[in-house]
Amino acid sequence: MQEKIEALLKEINETVVESAEALEAYQRRFTNKKGLINDLFAEFRTVPGDVKRVVGRPLNELKKRAYDRLQEFQQQAKRATQSADRPHDLTLPGDPHVAGARHPLSIVQNKIISVFERIGFTVAEGPEVEDDWHNFGALNFPDNHPARDMQDTFFVEREPDHLLRTHTSSVQVRVMENNDPPIRVLSPGRVYRNEAISARAHCFFHQVEGLVIDKDVSFADMKQALQYFAIQMFGKKAKIKLRPSYFPFTEISAEMDVWWGLETQDDYRMTKGSGWVEIMGCGMVDPNVLANCGIDPDVYSGYAFGMGVERIAQLLYRVPDLRLYSQNDLRFLKQFAKMGG
Ligand code: DAH
Repeated sequence: MQEKIEALLKEINETVVESAEALEAYQRRFTNKKGLINDLFAEFRTVPGDVKRVVGRPLNELKKRAYDRLQEFQQQAKRATQSADRPHDLTLPGDPHVAGARHPLSIVQNKIISVFERIGFTVAEGPEVEDDWHNFGALNFPDNHPARDMQDTFFVEREPDHLLRTHTSSVQVRVMENNDPPIRVLSPGRVYRNEAISARAHCFFHQVEGLVIDKDVSFADMKQALQYFAIQMFGKKAKIKLRPSYFPFTEISAEMDVWWGLETQDDYRMTKGSGWVEIMGCGMVDPNVLANCGIDPDVYSGYAFGMGVERIAQLLYRVPDLRLYSQNDLRFLKQFAKMGG
């Protein structure tokens, strides 16, 4: 009996079923009422006890194996008929197609642009890999001047003169080199700095730069444009304050704060107890910069400003950590889905 069991096991293992007929034949031969497995069980009942003890287990295993194989063949057959008769099951529910949403930085960048577009600015873009002249030299950063240390630069190893732009002020230079005044442009884009990544610093971020060059442009013109911007961005009650500052490419230079308020603990934290938050650098374009770019400083003057998009987004949406902008966490991004932009 043991031999019979072994022979059947071998046969079952070697059987290949590739058609409905073969499946039927398998069932007839092995698993049907009148099949060989049942025959063996009938025989089992007639053998003496000591034989039973030896063959009981292999016999049960054989039966299990035969039925496992049967199930395998049946599933295989089902798959085959499904894919042959109904290549597409039109009754299945569709895959959900979730509409994406704009990234908060795009929303804010577009907002900034649309505010300035309303007062006549157009958009100009420039390369992210810049040469030293456009990022520093033309902007009045002398060689080895410590002002270059204000911005930790990534240099391109194989091209010593090239670097990842540290600010979008580089686009100012390109615009002035290639256009005659009047100039009224906005330059949005990504910039890079060699900083350790933390909640407050990142090795890349985004800026929007503004530049206005014409005859008789004054500091008061700049102030008015920036106040208009603050009101459009932060609401009717927005107040601005210009503090003296230093940038190599502007003379005079300032930093602009907007009034944030000092009502809650959060306000205290955000404003370091002052009620004001800094949102941009600005100033009158240094005459050296105009001359470097082929514009006569005796005829023309102008102002420039530059702001961080992440910073503005942080203020508008209370984003507590810069890293959230680039982690692609849908739980964060989905919150901006209804904010348009
Ligand atoms: N380029 C400066 C920076 O990245 C920002 C800036 C300050 C731009 C003053 C300007 C400006 O145009 O006038 O920190």
